[in-house]
Amino acid sequence: MAVQISPSILSADFARLADEARAIETAADWLHVDVMDNHFVPNLTIGLPVVESLLKHVTLPIDCHLMIDDPDQHAPGYAEAGARNVTIHAEAAKAPVRTLRAIRAAGARAGLAVNPGTPVEPYEDLLAELDMLLLMTVEPGFGGQHFLDLVLPKLRRARDMVARHGGAVWLQVDGGVSVETIERCADAGADVFVAGSAVYSADDPAQAVRALREQAQWATAHASWAR
Ligand code: DX5
Ligand code: ZN
Repeated sequence: MAVQISPSILSADFARLADEARAIETAADWLHVDVMDNHFVPNLTIGLPVVESLLKHVTLPIDCHLMIDDPDQHAPGYAEAGARNVTIHAEAAKAPVRTLRAIRAAGARAGLAVNPGTPVEPYEDLLAELDMLLLMTVEPGFGGQHFLDLVLPKLRRARDMVARHGGAVWLQVDGGVSVETIERCADAGADVFVAGSAVYSADDPAQAVRALREQAQWATAHASWAR
């Protein structure tokens, strides 16, 4: 699978979201939208009404990352609104199979996220219900944090696990992904890369996306898992 870059609007200017999304439109594959409820994580961002508005103005497919306490209730609504991917947290979902199926039934790809301290092995039997597994490479809640290298061994194990099941599930990393860290992620098995501050703090966000893609492609071409 080709490298995909999903810039996070968490580091964008929230008063100019549509313009900020357009700035990376020609360079990126997805627009990553971080929904936070001030309960699952200690930060509050945007919810369904803003996602619905964004969908009217943005041509990139929207990748919703729900950092909320009750994804079972709220996740299907994001898929019904038109988000192309909806990711829920394993730590928050009480009925992940039902919710992942509801996301798919509404026409979106279904993602499952795990925090840095959450193992992936317990979710092996759920892989058939997933289109993407998100391994957080920071504790969720804020942009601009330092990348946690301790997640890399888990990423390798996740890549092996996905390969054993046919390799169809995408492996996303989110948190601290930059030109300094993206090669390590690609080498360990990631194929979808979220980057917030690395893109939106750059003078030219589209160029920042291209630079990230180039490095990830180079590292993937040299990675043992991709051969
Ligand atoms: C953090 C969010 C990320 C965040 C990443 O909880 O899920 O998507 O925007 O920001 P950076 O790339 O700056 O770490
Ligand atoms: Zn995110």
